[in-house]
Amino acid sequence: MIQNMGEHIVVTGGAGYIGSHTVVELLNNNYQVSIIDNFNNSDRSVIDAIEKITGKRPSVFEFDVCNEASLQQFFQEHQDISAVIHFAAYKAVGESVAEPLKYYRNNINSLLNLAEQIDTNKPSNFKGIVFSSSCTVYGQPDVLPVTEATPMKKAESPYGFTKQVCEELLLNNTPNTNYSSIALRYFNPIGAHPSALIGELPNGVPNNLVPYITQTAIGKRECLQVFGNDYHTEDGSCIRDFIHVVDLAKAHVAAISRLLNEKTKHAFEVFNVGTGRGNSVLEVIASFEKVSEQKLNYKIVGRRSGDIEKIYADTSFANQELGWKAESSLDEAMLSAWRWEQHLQSR
Ligand code: UFG
Repeated sequence: MIQNMGEHIVVTGGAGYIGSHTVVELLNNNYQVSIIDNFNNSDRSVIDAIEKITGKRPSVFEFDVCNEASLQQFFQEHQDISAVIHFAAYKAVGESVAEPLKYYRNNINSLLNLAEQIDTNKPSNFKGIVFSSSCTVYGQPDVLPVTEATPMKKAESPYGFTKQVCEELLLNNTPNTNYSSIALRYFNPIGAHPSALIGELPNGVPNNLVPYITQTAIGKRECLQVFGNDYHTEDGSCIRDFIHVVDLAKAHVAAISRLLNEKTKHAFEVFNVGTGRGNSVLEVIASFEKVSEQKLNYKIVGRRSGDIEKIYADTSFANQELGWKAESSLDEAMLSAWRWEQHLQSR
């Protein structure tokens, strides 16, 4: 990777789960980082933790990216920004079904506002946007593993639709820009920083598998429900591509480097960010039991509506073009998730 010159990177949603891990990796790579976050679904203590890990404190600007006046003022006062990583968005699939307008307004408006302010204020050295997308844009693919050329299906939730629309927005806007955009389609991020100082902080009852597992093991939840064991998979449970959040964070640093060094081959590019490995829900539980050396209380229940049977990434394009590869095993990721849960209990 070409050494960067301390360029100024803005991270919206930088106090969140993936955002905070990405800020750590950016600081470790000597970038200057400004976080824009309204702390709607994150904790202010994350900033101290980032400083503790890296020895550097990112600048923090507390406002909503949907707020036009605040974002305009931010760009007017920061002409030196080289790139933006846009995480700030709502992400609960079920909530998006119940409250679709909330998702359309927040997730689409935030990117729209960002793109407009960049285009209006034209930071002099601006090289591009990295956008948080999701493998949810593929729906249940007909062929596995999924490549970036796998056709998108109709979105299965308003959340997924906002990711499709945002990708399209970036693509459609490329003729008007002199910079590039990269959408990273995340598979299932899990785990926490090895320091156990930052990790996932679910609001209320977790929807996702791994925080539910660790909360059950620590005694915050009584029993994990495994949603279905009658799928057409080897053990009957669903299959996902679980990627360690630190590996995912490093993919952002690689994407930033590609933008700053003007290595993009198209003004809008898309990469699958996964491990290339499919693991079943029951395999994840087995991995947890192994690394934590304890039995997990779980029971098999019926399928969860909206779940796809299996998905995992073909990561060869990202490996080749970004010069990046996921390195951690499932066990390493599960152990880090467990250490984080134990840290949360002790603080
Ligand atoms: N699961 C359980 N019990 C639980 C929670 C989850 O059995 O308590 C199962 C689910 O049924 C699924 C698997 O674990 O089979 C993974 O579920 P998650 O909720 O952790 O993750 P999803 O794959 O459903 O969702 C993730 C992201 C979404 C994204 C989606 C794309 O959370 O943001 O992948 O497929 F849209």
